[in-house]
Amino acid sequence: MDTSAFLKSHIRTVPDWPAPGVQFRDITPLLQDPKVFRVLIDTFVHRYMDAALRPTVVAGLDARGFIIGSVLAYELGVGFVPIRKKGKLPFTTVEETYELEYGSATVELHTDAVRPGDRVVLIDDLIATGGTMMAGRRLLEKLGAEVTEGAAIVDLPELGGSEKLRASGLELFTLLDFA
Ligand code: PRP
Ligand code: HPA
Repeated sequence: MDTSAFLKSHIRTVPDWPAPGVQFRDITPLLQDPKVFRVLIDTFVHRYMDAALRPTVVAGLDARGFIIGSVLAYELGVGFVPIRKKGKLPFTTVEETYELEYGSATVELHTDAVRPGDRVVLIDDLIATGGTMMAGRRLLEKLGAEVTEGAAIVDLPELGGSEKLRASGLELFTLLDFA
């Protein structure tokens, strides 16, 4: 079994959560088994250790992007910065609001989190509509950093997010999809 199929076999699908009709792709089993967690993290580490793709900073999206992003940053020997849902960061922030299926959401980043010249890998667990990753990218670019690649474990291509992100010019690396 290849790595993608191996990791996919450890994602749990929960029907009708958080709403009827939604098939929720739950990554917690990937984290729970230490051997699987290592394969997951090592897959990202091997990619971003490469000199051409090596970032100066890893940015993680609230909340599941923190779990994988912080470990990745640690292994790469670079800093980790959290992009948080509004109202959680104590210092001065930049913010971006984006549309959800119903309503909107706002994410924030500390103004000193990255600097011009930083090359950032922006990571999350999953891409659905792509709104969260797009907003995170805008925050990092507002501060003058370059998002060299967006990364996620899971892509849900039917929701169009990955296509939209790539069409906007973002390089995107995902490990598996549920089509
Ligand atoms: C989920 C997921 C991504 C985002 C993807 O997070 O972890 O961050 O939604 O959706 P999108 O591509 O349509 O923006 P959620 O907002 O449920 O937050 P959580 O990680 O705090 O549970
Ligand atoms: N799993 C995790 N996060 C999500 C999902 C999902 O299926 N859909 C939108 N955000």
